[in-house]
Amino acid sequence: MYSRIVVLGAGYVGITLSVALCATGIRVLVVDIDEKKIDRLKKGDPCIREDGLQELLKKHIDTSCIDFISGDASVAAIDADLLFICLPTDVDISGKPQLDTLINAAHTASEYMASGGSLVVKSTVLPETTFKIAKSIGRRDLNVLVCPEFLQEGTALRDTLNPDRIVIGADNFQAASDLAEILPKNENTEVIITDPTSAELAKMISNTMLASKVTFANLVADIAELTGANSHDVLLAVGADKRIGNTHLRPGPGWGGSCLPKDTQMLSYLTQSIGMPSQFVDSIYSENIDHIERVANRILDLMPQKGSEKLAILGVTFKGGTDDLRRSPAIEVINAVSKKVPNINIYDPSLSSNSAISDFESLVDQRKISIKEDAYKCVESADLAVVLTDWEEFKTLDLALVKAVMGTPVIYDTRNVIDERVASEIGIELIKLGTQNPKRFS
Ligand SMILES: NC(=O)c1ccc[n+]([C@@H]2O[C@H](COP(=O)([O-])OP(=O)(O)OC[C@H]3O[C@@H](n4cnc5c(N)ncnc54)[C@H](O)[C@@H]3O)[C@@H](O)[C@H]2O)c1
Repeated sequence: MYSRIVVLGAGYVGITLSVALCATGIRVLVVDIDEKKIDRLKKGDPCIREDGLQELLKKHIDTSCIDFISGDASVAAIDADLLFICLPTDVDISGKPQLDTLINAAHTASEYMASGGSLVVKSTVLPETTFKIAKSIGRRDLNVLVCPEFLQEGTALRDTLNPDRIVIGADNFQAASDLAEILPKNENTEVIITDPTSAELAKMISNTMLASKVTFANLVADIAELTGANSHDVLLAVGADKRIGNTHLRPGPGWGGSCLPKDTQMLSYLTQSIGMPSQFVDSIYSENIDHIERVANRILDLMPQKGSEKLAILGVTFKGGTDDLRRSPAIEVINAVSKKVPNINIYDPSLSSNSAISDFESLVDQRKISIKEDAYKCVESADLAVVLTDWEEFKTLDLALVKAVMGTPVIYDTRNVIDERVASEIGIELIKLGTQNPKRFS
């Protein structure tokens, strides 16, 4: 059906999509402007941490199913009859979407693509972006579609190979059907074909609804701490209602990552720009900021103030299973507490390469922070250990060893990953986010 399939942008979305397409037997050319990234990809390094991705990437390189070139849209689009645009679309400090890179790339690509080809926007964009691109390109022989990506980091490959749904926004039904046919899916995947603006809005609403669910869970946690309720039991009861569902109802230090904050801000920008600002949408974002601040204050409350106190932080990525530090609530908590705490040890399983460490160090006050190679070195002689990310390995920590090496054996678990019964047997004071606990040093 297509003779030259190209993916432009080899980040979390682009490389996962490329590898998943190869898994269904399709040959893919991957193009990225970052030459170093392309060199690493050619050697089988996906440049991101995702379960199963590296193995599959290497397999596809060995069978020549996937190829890589560094360059921009003008390189990617030559003779392409299916081009996926997976470029970043961020918001600026005021929440205004920054879509120039994507729009320019689409225009450039349109000059080089094969007649009858399909240009597919995978990036998250403001509603009407695809419509405006199609209109301004002015090439009637080209289809411009949008197919928003719904993968979650940490399970990106699994989500891309087995999506719950594929949403395609297109003016040309045949082009949408052809695209749907080649995308990875299973027998339960729902394929929804609609107009481009509805597809774009569906993506933004999905993420804002997920953000609002987590915001709700965190609100319950904050209420529970002040009322004596146990938020985990409350949310278990609430999530058991099938109308509500139990995903995204786990309280934590706040939501983050590259998508939820940005997409919520984009929706907020959209409601303002169409003349119907929404306090509801705005509050989802601002409630999260307030919650992160409350978590940071809680940590400060729990720290003894002796001038040489040491805090151990377990986890800095925005969730377990990914190396993504973008807009991680853990980073915001660290930056807030590092203004007051003199010594902070950090451990995160993803900080295992020099480039990951320097990315992390660029986000925090390095003078206060010491990165450790494992969880036990991190908590050594600490007055308080705080779990900020739900990495699997934190669930199986040897708590007896943790107790033996800590200065004062106190853990503040913001992710509900530490076994309460074992901690109590061993003599660790476990304080869980979302349950009522006494202030230790008030
Ligand atoms: N990361 C996610 O979990 C996720 C999930 C769903 C949707 N999305 C959306 O998908 C889009 C891509 O996100 P991502 O996380 O993969 O981004 P990313 O930053 O990980 O990757 C973007 C890639 O594009 C490359 N690039 C930038 N400008 C380029 C240009 N002009 N020409 C060629 N390459 C260029 C970068 O080098 C980088 O490798 C965004 O709109 C995002 O909102 C992301």
